[in-house]
Amino acid sequence: MSNTNIGKQAAGGVAAGLVRDGMVVGIGTGSTVVYFIEALGRRVQTEGLKIRAIPTSEATVAHASRWGIPLVPLTPQTRPDLTIDGADEANPRLDLIKGGGGALLREKLVAAAAAEFVVIADSSKRVEHLGAFPLPLAVVPFAVPTVAAQLKDEFEVTPRLRLLADGEPYITDDGLYILDLPFGLIKRPAILDKRLKVITGVVETGIFIGLAKRLLLGHPDGRVENIYP
Ligand code: A5P
Repeated sequence: MSNTNIGKQAAGGVAAGLVRDGMVVGIGTGSTVVYFIEALGRRVQTEGLKIRAIPTSEATVAHASRWGIPLVPLTPQTRPDLTIDGADEANPRLDLIKGGGGALLREKLVAAAAAEFVVIADSSKRVEHLGAFPLPLAVVPFAVPTVAAQLKDEFEVTPRLRLLADGEPYITDDGLYILDLPFGLIKRPAILDKRLKVITGVVETGIFIGLAKRLLLGHPDGRVENIYP
């Protein structure tokens, strides 16, 4: 197993230990979350842990179902006690860039609705400043040309439409396209998030501000560090 995967698996395992009987658990998306689902699924199967889970993508629906984890939709009555999700970057305040896997919209909904949101990541995801990872933006397909033009004019960034291997646009579970924005350095993520959100045709940004209350950072030696904002 690679050093990165050792960190992901270690963080996912510690996160699964945070889940208690009777909880509603929000489950994010991505390769780190797959390790969390495995560890949680083992607890469901061996300990008879009784939980309900709210998935953030069709991929997570498939993984969680394979482990027999009961799934429920997000409603005002059914909100997560705890949401666990990965991240592409986390700064010291635990502001995040997410959406490398394209699920940022549902991920933000499920993170924001949770009583507690805990991020799991390998040590490569910790950064001093956000922005080296291109910022994902979920955009209505019809609006992509005008949004892209506005981004170039106002933000001096050249957006890249996310494509599949066959050259077709990547489409999210909600029928949106993803524009990846290579800012390089994001100095004021909260302000950038607000400015991007008001562009007509932008549905959501991959900037997550003030949501994460804890980061479980998995290191290549299997150690998991607890980081708080
Ligand atoms: C999914 O849309 C993303 O927000 C993921 O949480 C993020 O990309 C981290 O993914 P990995 O765990 O695969 O690095």
